[in-house]
Amino acid sequence: MKIGIEKIAFHVPNNYVEMTDLAQARQVDPNKFHIGLGQDQMAVLPYTQDIVTLGANAAQRIVSDTDKKQIAMVIVGTESAHDFSKSAAVSIHHLLGIQPYARTYEIKHACYGGTAALQQAHDFVACHPDKKVLVIAADIAKYGLATPGEPTQGCGAVAMLVSAEPKILRFADDSVYYAEDVYDFWRPAGHDYPLVDGHLSNEIYVESFVKVWEANKKLNQRTASDYAALTFHLPYTKMGRKAFAAIALEMSTADQDRLMAQYEHAITYSRKVGNLYTGSLYLGLCSLLDHGTLKAGDRIGLFSYGSGAVSEFFSLIVEPDFKRSLLIAENEALLAQRKKLTLTEYETLFKQKLPADGGTYEFDDTSSFAIKKISGDIRYYREA
Ligand code: HMG
Repeated sequence: MKIGIEKIAFHVPNNYVEMTDLAQARQVDPNKFHIGLGQDQMAVLPYTQDIVTLGANAAQRIVSDTDKKQIAMVIVGTESAHDFSKSAAVSIHHLLGIQPYARTYEIKHACYGGTAALQQAHDFVACHPDKKVLVIAADIAKYGLATPGEPTQGCGAVAMLVSAEPKILRFADDSVYYAEDVYDFWRPAGHDYPLVDGHLSNEIYVESFVKVWEANKKLNQRTASDYAALTFHLPYTKMGRKAFAAIALEMSTADQDRLMAQYEHAITYSRKVGNLYTGSLYLGLCSLLDHGTLKAGDRIGLFSYGSGAVSEFFSLIVEPDFKRSLLIAENEALLAQRKKLTLTEYETLFKQKLPADGGTYEFDDTSSFAIKKISGDIRYYREA
């Protein structure tokens, strides 16, 4: 039985800031952001939107009325939850009108949550081939104004429908995993922003990639020539390049050129959005599918990394006619129609927070699924 991704779509908010403007405001050479980090624009979220609205908007793009009857599990991978108890998944399940007899929950490990959800979706469909699973990876990456992490912020969500009718990609069942207890990036309860040892996080990311790459070679008997493309978790788009450089010398020039050419296709969207934490690997996958030169049967290697630190390397195989299931024009339009913020507007939005005093407040964000009211610390969402 084939199991895999039947549909995939992302959502990003309607606002962004230009990295050149941010660099100038922080008195940094813009090339540090554009070349040194590989970022051109950064998505910015209004305080009246959250991972529920991001996730619901992404899922709304792919889930049909028939799917809503067949979805038997909804999993949200995130590290940006606003509630320690109730999951974002149950709110999204409600907003989308998915049939009620569905297993619905949230899952966390830093940027790895989306991959954990995707693999659980695979296992569920293996046991229940007539059912579908909605996987959502949604996050808001925020480090604070004028911090080293600021140019690596971003936000958004990727939704994937996993089923036994994989029209886009099928699983190859070849995952390898690695875990190491390390404090490179973490967010203790009560902290608005993560604590991060940025340079250590870069090192652990690359080391983890090399570990799973070596394990993959040994366990699955594969080399670089088996892959049409490699995609990476993208906290900023230079990061995957650094990981790739750690293994490049072991491959032929032809393999290096092919994989690097595909890497450029995989980072197009992330350059304009920034880090989605758990959605970043999958925004890169969307970008590769939309822009890459892939054909049926091609093997894509995916490196998932979550600080703390866990990682997984696995492959997905391209299905025939996959392009027909993509939303390429709509994806481009979503990015093109965004509003460019001035630095003052960005900083104002950044500082705004939902009231947390238990009172009743109404908001006039007319976007679909925006928060329309908060009362007694319950968020009420505007339905699409
Ligand atoms: P920094 O110290 O400000 O930057 O922080 P830097 O001095 O290291 O410079 C960055 C790069 O720009 C360097 O290139 C410079 O040479 C280059 P590299 O040596 O790295 O190849 N550069 C220039 N290039 C061209 N023209 C110039 C110029 N100036 C400098 N004029 C850092 C950078 C990424 C550490 C910081 O932004 C940060 O802490 N970010 C957050 C942490 C992060 O993103 N870590 C990534 C790995 S961990 C991960 O991916 C997990 C994560 O997503 C969280 C999760 O799992 O939940 C973060």
